Amino acid sequence: MRPDPELADRLKRHGQEHLLAWWDRLDATGRAQLASELSAIDLDQLDRLVAELVGEEADAAGSLAVDPERVQPIDVVRLPQTDGERIARRRAAELGADALAAGEVGVILVAGGSGTRLGFDGPKGTYPIGPVSRASLFQIHAEKIVALGRRHGRPVPLYVMTSPDNDEATRSFFESHGNFGLDRVRFFVQGQMPAVDRVTGKVLLAAPDHVALSPDGHGGTLAALAAAGPDGSPSCLEELRERGVRTLFYFQVDNPLVQIADPAYLGMHRQADAEMSFKVIERLTPDEKVGVVVMVDGVPQVIEYSDLPPVLANRRVPEGSLELWAGSIAIHVLERTFIERLVGDAKLPFHRAVKKVPFVDASGATVKPDGPNAVKFEQFIFDALPLAKRWAIVETDRPTEFEPLKNAVGPDSPETVHRRMSDLFGAWLEQAGATVPRRADGSVPFDVEISPLYALDAQELRSRLEPGFVVDGPTYLK
Ligand code: UTP
Repeated sequence: MRPDPELADRLKRHGQEHLLAWWDRLDATGRAQLASELSAIDLDQLDRLVAELVGEEADAAGSLAVDPERVQPIDVVRLPQTDGERIARRRAAELGADALAAGEVGVILVAGGSGTRLGFDGPKGTYPIGPVSRASLFQIHAEKIVALGRRHGRPVPLYVMTSPDNDEATRSFFESHGNFGLDRVRFFVQGQMPAVDRVTGKVLLAAPDHVALSPDGHGGTLAALAAAGPDGSPSCLEELRERGVRTLFYFQVDNPLVQIADPAYLGMHRQADAEMSFKVIERLTPDEKVGVVVMVDGVPQVIEYSDLPPVLANRRVPEGSLELWAGSIAIHVLERTFIERLVGDAKLPFHRAVKKVPFVDASGATVKPDGPNAVKFEQFIFDALPLAKRWAIVETDRPTEFEPLKNAVGPDSPETVHRRMSDLFGAWLEQAGATVPRRADGSVPFDVEISPLYALDAQELRSRLEPGFVVDGPTYLK
């Protein structure tokens, strides 16, 4: 059987006819799979992306093409220092709590990434990160949402974004754990993009019957929320509208410290009448690997750390600290109507990621390249910021809210995450009146963990802990 002539012709017009090189040797299932993957590729869009993001010029371009003088710091609601500021945060928290009690808040957890750096066998969310309990990232996040619903008297719906590669494993993990007690959880699958050869821009085949596809980035969340559900059922966005959910709290799977749907943050977002908000931490060194939130010609935007030219990364205020200090930790609040507007008439740009991608060569052999041979295309959620009419940028404290699991060893690894979690829970216990031993550097010498179902924050812990509690070994409160 010949390939569909229309498809073959389209591939030829776009210089991608090599993708059918093995067609004659495929069985019916292989042909059907390849044809369906190829039909799903938007070849006009791919041509534009290859022209812009692939080849020598794109390789050489590197950092940001903007005059550094046009880049200025952005206004940030800083951590409260005065009583007045503390009262203002409390007021904001009341507003956020009202929104939660009214059922106007939903939560989006993005977990479609490949987790290549961690190298764990399974979706990253299933990684057993609890320092004592070995609870998975998914369990910790889900239990926070269950606890939040109980506290505010209204279940908070959770939407989990997966990718075609980890969707089934993610769903069955939740199912085998009774959805961790969540009332409402829905999974939705993000899109994929083909990887192309970094020199020629030709789409790579992962196997004779399979295109080298990878998730389209966390910016793919927006389109995926708008896509119809199974068998034409309502999209997540339609469902949210029907449920009266106005405001969405967005976070990424790898940070177990995230304060999910933090009421003060939600309240500040609402006070600013914002369409999109960012939590930021203070970048302490010029080479820190977090994107920087800045203003360019009066428009807010995030510059990826890898795109930040040294002249900007190193710029300091007269007192000596970094001028562009607001580091984004990928914790956002988005208005549902903002997302609806973006999926209607605006598209997020694609970025290139140069990676090692195994591929089938002209002889039909699978090649495992030694170095980065391919360009992948990804959208980033933070590119929605310049499209927002209003925004709130809110500072948070790194030790209490940010320690992502990225690598198998070294920084941002299970070891650093365990240490940070134990230190945080140790501090909560101290605030609740417990005796907690400390090493000379101030860290807690034992693994300490508190289940979100036991206490969601230090204040709740204080109301539950019996007097005279002493930490004298690994401790898990649940
Ligand atoms: P990262 O950029 O850290 O990627 O994603 P990753 O896939 O987890 O890890 P590496 O780079 O392969 O080692 C940050 C967050 O965005 C999600 C991830 O699941 C993680 O929560 N993400 C990333 C998606 O949901 N989809 C994507 O296409 C990319």
